[in-house]
Amino acid sequence: MVEPRLITIDAPADAPDPAGELAAGLREQPARVAPKYLYDALGSRLFEAITELPEYYPTRTERAIFDAHGAAMAAAVGPVRTLVDLGAGSCRKAARLFPVLRPSSYVAVDISVDYLRDALADLQRQFPAIQMLGVGIDFSRRLMLPDAVGDGARLLFYPGSSIGNFTPDEALVFLRQCHTAVAGGSLLVGVDLIKPRAVLELAYDDPLGVTAAFNLNLLRRLNALLGCDARLEDFDHVALFNERESRIEMHLQARRGLQLRWRGGQRHLAEGERVHTENSYKYSLEGFAALLRESGFARTAWWTDAQRWFAVFHAAA
Ligand SMILES: C[S@@+](CC[C@H](N)C(=O)[O-])C[C@H]1O[C@@H](n2cnc3c(N)ncnc32)[C@H](O)[C@@H]1O
Repeated sequence: MVEPRLITIDAPADAPDPAGELAAGLREQPARVAPKYLYDALGSRLFEAITELPEYYPTRTERAIFDAHGAAMAAAVGPVRTLVDLGAGSCRKAARLFPVLRPSSYVAVDISVDYLRDALADLQRQFPAIQMLGVGIDFSRRLMLPDAVGDGARLLFYPGSSIGNFTPDEALVFLRQCHTAVAGGSLLVGVDLIKPRAVLELAYDDPLGVTAAFNLNLLRRLNALLGCDARLEDFDHVALFNERESRIEMHLQARRGLQLRWRGGQRHLAEGERVHTENSYKYSLEGFAALLRESGFARTAWWTDAQRWFAVFHAAA
């Protein structure tokens, strides 16, 4: 049995260190923490649990689109040598597409390295004929794939509506980087669409409290990475649809006035004051197609579900 290789790439010299980035975000008005910090090994497991909730429609809707249109997607994509999965998580979505896309090599990219290592090892056992590589990087500032990925055209796979974590301006920059990274190949990307507020807010604030736990886990990360003294019981999880910005926002809201202290800094939060932890932008089909065109992708196609809740776009360089 060949074990998949996992390489982690040091952050570029100009990237802020996690403690510095977290402290700077906490000092902002309003305070904020980048969503990539939601994902340590526990955060990744909590996200997987979210995908099983009946209220969290994105995963099952996207899966149904893949199941219904996988053959058409494979025809649009053409032969795939290297499949690069951005924010691979459990790698399950890509694995479901292996039988139709038939890649000879699979590259799983994720910031949550420990979780990725286990997921990839399991997958390699299931698909011993596919050459697998794990890449532990933060691609939010710059998408730079290591030489080990190999030359030639690639299919970049970016499911789960993770593109919605970027603002539309940031998404444009990221998609331009994808356009370069496909090296003449193409991109398959999952996009969450605009829908009624009640559906959206329930998906990000489930009655079982799994999304709340996922969000609150960020406080544990602040404590570990920054030496912060945050107490989970001092905060509530808040998820709301900001219609003007077309985005779900997640926040951690202080239950009482409190002082957050960390190595080298502190921040007062009044009762009800929030730390902004995630955005998830919702697009129209036309709006996202225009963004792809602006990013340099000349040919695009999309597939959606009957309710038009979610879409999978294929974009060729
Ligand atoms: C919303 S989850 C999607 C997981 C999986 N692809 C799916 O569709 O179910 C986002 C994934 O991207 C990873 N991720 C988030 N920010 C990242 C970053 N800046 N660089 C690399 N990976 C990141 C997370 O660890 C997580 O696995």
